[in-house]
Amino acid sequence: MCVSPVNTIRDLSGHSGCRVMLCQAGGDPFIRKQSTSFAYNERLKRQLLKQKHFNMDAVRTPAVLGAGYDGGFFYFDMEYIPARKMAESIEHLDIEDILHFLDMLFESLPLRRKKPGARAAALFSRKIGAVTRNLPRREATVLEAVRKLRNFDFSTVPHSYCCGDLTLENILVTENRRIYLIDFLDSFYNSWMIDVAKLFQDLEFRWSYRSLPKDIHRELKLRIAKEVLVKKVVDLEEGVSKLYMIYHIILLNTLRILPYTHDTPTLRYLDRTMGDVMKRIDVIKEYL
Ligand SMILES: Nc1ncnc2c1ncn2[C@@H]1O[C@H](COP(=O)(O)OP(=O)(O)OP(=O)(O)O)[C@@H](O)[C@H]1O
Ligand SMILES: [Mg+2]
Repeated sequence: MCVSPVNTIRDLSGHSGCRVMLCQAGGDPFIRKQSTSFAYNERLKRQLLKQKHFNMDAVRTPAVLGAGYDGGFFYFDMEYIPARKMAESIEHLDIEDILHFLDMLFESLPLRRKKPGARAAALFSRKIGAVTRNLPRREATVLEAVRKLRNFDFSTVPHSYCCGDLTLENILVTENRRIYLIDFLDSFYNSWMIDVAKLFQDLEFRWSYRSLPKDIHRELKLRIAKEVLVKKVVDLEEGVSKLYMIYHIILLNTLRILPYTHDTPTLRYLDRTMGDVMKRIDVIKEYL
């Protein structure tokens, strides 16, 4: 923990109930992530623990430097990584580089973990119940998504370490081609499949780009990366079943966002994605 007075150099974007600041206290700059409500304190603590226990082969995470409270709000400090977000870098990177990073990420996931958590079915069922109760709209597509989720057997989702929010926004790429993961999420269930689902949300459904104008270079690179990711999953043992499960997790994620969404680009994203994910689920089912 820092002993010199902490200066906030600038605020960085932070949409998930936290304030993220670039700070300095005498020496090198560092990042402080702070809860903005007392209610969020415990969640941020769990996220900090996830970051501390991070253990992937070729991928890193910023070192945690300390933690504490400021005005009753929990915060933790971490190493500042001078890097660009993968979401922004994708337009500038060669496709070979993108595939290299995808390789590093995928191979670092605990893919060989097969054992489900004892309470997998109960936790997913509880989540689906909570999401359904919260739904602001109940038109045909939404009801069909709920039906698909209720009918799906989540009891065999492998239980393993995961980051929880592996979008391209939360992957930092340094100049010397190192990858750092940030913004760990305390998920209701931990599985590497949740991370792969988040990757698909960007590579196939463009979650991180929903508010940006289309860009042909980005589009082509994302398409290639998505096809490569599909192949990687399908090539795993019982790969098609795994892919089928991952697309159900994407569907659940999509539905989960609906109650919190008020902006037009995100509403459009959700409408489009829900239908597209269900079409994909139906196609994959034919190969089971
Ligand atoms: N250790 C770090 N080094 C460098 N930049 C960082 C670091 N941690 C966070 N950032 C920057 O701050 C931004 C927001 O951080 P983070 O993703 O953890 O917060 P968030 O509250 O989830 O925000 P968002 O909803 O925008 O993802 C990141 O996208 C990244 O640009
Ligand atoms: Mg983030």
